[in-house]
Amino acid sequence: MAKYMEPKYRTILEAKENELESLKGMSANSLWKPAYHIHPQFGLINDPNGLAYFNGEFHVFYQWYPFDAMHGMKHWAYVKSSDLVNWERQPVALVPVEDYESHGAYSGASLEVDGKLYMYYTGNIKYSAEERSANQCLAIMEKDGTITKYANNPVIEGVPEGYTGHVRDPKVFEKDGRYYMLLGAQRTDQTGALIVYESENAVDWRFKGELKLALDLPNSVYMLECPDYFDVSGKDVLIVSPQGLDADGHNYHNLYNVISVIGKLDIERLTFEVETYHELDKGFDFYAPQSFAGKNNERLLFAWAGMGEVEYPTDKEKWAHCLSIPRELEVVDGKLRQKPAEELKQLRVRSESSEMEIVEGAVEIQNASDQYELELELNDLEANQFGVELFASETEGLVLAFDREKQTVSVNREKFDAAFGGDFGFVRSSELAISDLVKVRVFVDHSIAEIFINDGEVVFTTRVFPKKESKGIKVFSDDKLRGCYTKHELSQ
Ligand code: FRU
Repeated sequence: MAKYMEPKYRTILEAKENELESLKGMSANSLWKPAYHIHPQFGLINDPNGLAYFNGEFHVFYQWYPFDAMHGMKHWAYVKSSDLVNWERQPVALVPVEDYESHGAYSGASLEVDGKLYMYYTGNIKYSAEERSANQCLAIMEKDGTITKYANNPVIEGVPEGYTGHVRDPKVFEKDGRYYMLLGAQRTDQTGALIVYESENAVDWRFKGELKLALDLPNSVYMLECPDYFDVSGKDVLIVSPQGLDADGHNYHNLYNVISVIGKLDIERLTFEVETYHELDKGFDFYAPQSFAGKNNERLLFAWAGMGEVEYPTDKEKWAHCLSIPRELEVVDGKLRQKPAEELKQLRVRSESSEMEIVEGAVEIQNASDQYELELELNDLEANQFGVELFASETEGLVLAFDREKQTVSVNREKFDAAFGGDFGFVRSSELAISDLVKVRVFVDHSIAEIFINDGEVVFTTRVFPKKESKGIKVFSDDKLRGCYTKHELSQ
């Protein structure tokens, strides 16, 4: 059969003369390129893939379409680091040139097997604009860094009976001497599911069945993407990225959303007993996160700080999105918490602290930087409405607002010349138990703010595209408030 073709199904090996140079030029003067976040030089990135601490280094791969700020032929781009904060760009790790991955090397995860890094991914196959299939594939990284696609790829050809061509994003793990592969899938009745394969040698796979996950998600959920599984704080945790969830109260306001489920996995019986589940991040730009074990076996996570089908202001500069900062995960009170990874402290170059007091109104924290970390402690709260405005200028500002009466916290990103994504609303919010002390920790990097409240109880990951002069930080309150702040300028 002739290969289904569209101009966007072209690999980087087919770049035209000067095409890549010219793409680089289009964003050379961008105001919005992050400094310490993993981001593309050009083109569009999405999901983090194959994350690993392997052979003494951190390896981060991610979905990349080089030629435009759109979803096209996906490659696995690659950066590595010895300290989790200074990243070196590497040659593209996976270029989809084989028939079994004819329309892209889609997402997947990696696992160390016999001293090598096994990188699993989905070979995306398109027959027409609507029809597709999927193969599960393997590439192996040796200790010397060479990456080779497995000669007998695919390791799983096609999709099992009962599912559509939407089967993808392998997460492989080992339990009791056996390997399991978890995949996101769509049943033929167009509802989302997770399916499991098993293997004795991490290469030959057998279909085991569907994971019974009593999440009572509505039938509108038509696909579960990017499953992740691990244990932390003595609990089993499953993270999934469902498509088709409708907004519900403070939850699920993005086109696609992410849920973390806490409970107990019995992989032999194919059950995941659900204790609690929550939307993992309450921001606008957070999807397809993936976790991995760090240097000290702590559970780390990166996410795609972006959202599908939303136009971003950088599209016209021919680049889009970045990854989140690395976060450390733990379960506290039945909820998965995300905290900035300890390693990020290495980025601090200059720090200043001060007390603050507001009677009513606002105080300004001096700032001329586009890349900083801000720690705020607000206490003695008599105020009902208070918060902090970032990227502030006369006409712009990202507003983080606490409401004591309602016991909520919200982020509003409407007040920007380059406001975007309005079809899905400009405000995100969460319930929050507000007592006498509120702690806020924010990582700002040119066009992204990652806001951690009360040690990661609530997190908002949010892109914004401010004007050059919009750098102000204003703490505001409608009544008496005292507190202190520390601001760290960050390097890179
Ligand atoms: C999630 C996703 C994955 C897929 C990849 C393709 O954002 O749709 O399911 O593997 O992106 O880029």
